Amino acid sequence: MNGSGMATATPLRVLGIETSCDDTSVAVLEGGTRLLSHLIAAQDVHRLYGGVVPELASRAHLELLPPLARRALEEARLEAGALDAIAVTRAPGLVGSLVVGVAFAKAWGLALGKPVLGVNHIEGHLHATALEHGPCEYPAIALVVSGGHTELVRVDGFGLYRWLGSTRDDAAGEAYDKVAKRLGLGFPGGPVLDALAAEGRRDAFDFPRPMIGRPGFDFSFSGLKTAVANAIAQHGDPPYPRALVADLAASFQAAVVDTLVARTLDAIDAENARTLNLGGGVACNRELRARLASECAARGVTLRIPSPRLCADNAAMIALVGTWIVERGDPSDPELDAVAALEESGLPIR
Ligand code: KG4
Ligand code: ZN
Repeated sequence: MNGSGMATATPLRVLGIETSCDDTSVAVLEGGTRLLSHLIAAQDVHRLYGGVVPELASRAHLELLPPLARRALEEARLEAGALDAIAVTRAPGLVGSLVVGVAFAKAWGLALGKPVLGVNHIEGHLHATALEHGPCEYPAIALVVSGGHTELVRVDGFGLYRWLGSTRDDAAGEAYDKVAKRLGLGFPGGPVLDALAAEGRRDAFDFPRPMIGRPGFDFSFSGLKTAVANAIAQHGDPPYPRALVADLAASFQAAVVDTLVARTLDAIDAENARTLNLGGGVACNRELRARLASECAARGVTLRIPSPRLCADNAAMIALVGTWIVERGDPSDPELDAVAALEESGLPIR
């Protein structure tokens, strides 16, 4: 009760947990809009191996998650008992990593007597922009581009999705990571290739633009990755001259961005979309952002790109979707389990 005798509804406070790949993240979200805390612990161990090692990822989650969750509550200045629900990524991802988050969430849920809600990681990426930009105008197109996914989806609201396209082989970020590895540039490859591309000539190499002009909205990046690998092979083993690496980076990036932009604009036009929402680590790419910004402006379409922390894997987007699940009235699921495959994760994938 407040001073006027009216009941004051306290806004929902949801703890979000994300452990689907190699980032351990915990967030406390209040009222679906205010992030009281948001912590992301990147697992540096994978750099040594040039890619994510699933076994090491689950072990690192096991060590990182409990102290991170306690710190998230401290920073939010909340006792665990003040939470209304716990939302955890249940799918898709590395099953050994997902299991750590799900088991932790269930244990806390049981101990605290709070509902535990399973969240789809891709659904988190689809809506992450709402954390900074609020509700959007529908229909929206969402492009989720990360190390594991390249998804083009029509979104008409929470839970209202029509899948338009996916990659048939490598994800866009995976292609970046593999090309960078081949060039001896370390992991992850996206940020370093993005920076190098700015120094190179985008027409130095004539790499293929896979799928452009073909019907539908699917993507394919493995042929492009092979074309780049073949071009690199002609120059022997690393290290390579910086100018050559910059030209390869710029030409490779031009092919990736041309493909992503062409498919996305086709989807916007076909669906008469009012909004384009980006998500996933590759949404940090400067050329992709700049190209989509000018194309969207020319069409009168609102482009919404999360800040880098919310593009990458994060618990804030999981807490957001968790909040909406609570508001929708879904019950806590004691049988909650981890699911690795996107196709089996409950979203309407074609
Ligand atoms: O969403 P994310 O943090 O993790 C998942 O894969 O789920 O995305 C990481 C991916 C990596 O493949 C990384 O190379 C790529 O995003 N990436 C970028 C850039 N920053 C990160 N790719 C291109 N340009 C960037 N600036
Ligand atoms: Zn992701």
